[in-house]
Amino acid sequence: MGFGKLITYEGIDGSGKSTQIQLLEAEFEKLGISYKTFREPGGTKLSEKIRKILLDKDNIELDANAESLLFAAARSQLTVEQIKPAILRGEVVICDRFTHSTIAYQGYGRGLKIDNLDKINSIATGGLSPDITFILDIDPEVAASRMSSNAPDRMEATGIDFFKKIQNGYHQIAEQNKNKCIVINGEQSPENVFKEIIQIISKLFKEELICS
Ligand code: ADP
Ligand code: TYD
Repeated sequence: MGFGKLITYEGIDGSGKSTQIQLLEAEFEKLGISYKTFREPGGTKLSEKIRKILLDKDNIELDANAESLLFAAARSQLTVEQIKPAILRGEVVICDRFTHSTIAYQGYGRGLKIDNLDKINSIATGGLSPDITFILDIDPEVAASRMSSNAPDRMEATGIDFFKKIQNGYHQIAEQNKNKCIVINGEQSPENVFKEIIQIISKLFKEELICS
């Protein structure tokens, strides 16, 4: 069974996206729903190479516009090579980050113009947008404490004030996309976060079954 939908997860680093995606995958396996999962930046051979450049702490000179365009290049390749074909096959595509990450990190975080980033996103996706986005909302200090045992990558090394701006950015994004972006309190237990998410996904799929 498939629904041809794009579900994306957003939130600051350490907000619990990967954990929640694993819980959703297990549920889809149980229900026999065909799905594909991708993580941004990445998901194709070329996009994984771009990921290495973006996260490498040696690349401190990387300019904010160059950074945005590299994220967009990785996204463009992933969209054409993987996401669109999977949706056309009727699979559910789960994406760990997508266009809203660029608005939150490069827009609200780095301070680049949102209008320009919207255009870059639109070029990278050919206009494809998520059917639903879950924004896992968590205090940046709590997220940092969850990740304290790992060596920070180039983005994570930017510091707590950067993540406060990004968290605020996600709140603005949710405010501007009320039907499609759902803010979930990411400081709850993984099980409780998942309960909220699966209720919303079940509703989305039921509507699809009724309409088709
Ligand atoms: P992300 O993919 O958003 O970076 P992860 O799912 O990798 O986040 O979670 C970061 C860390 O926090 C991991 O060690 C994970 O086990 C832990 N974690 C995830 N969700 C929760 C939660 N709801 N409560 C407490 N710890 C969590
Ligand atoms: P990753 O380790 O995949 O994120 P997480 O810790 O949330 O699992 O690293 C990806 C980093 O790239 C993360 O700091 C968010 C950042 N990013 C942007 O700044 N802009 C973007 O468009 C995307 C997709 C990610």
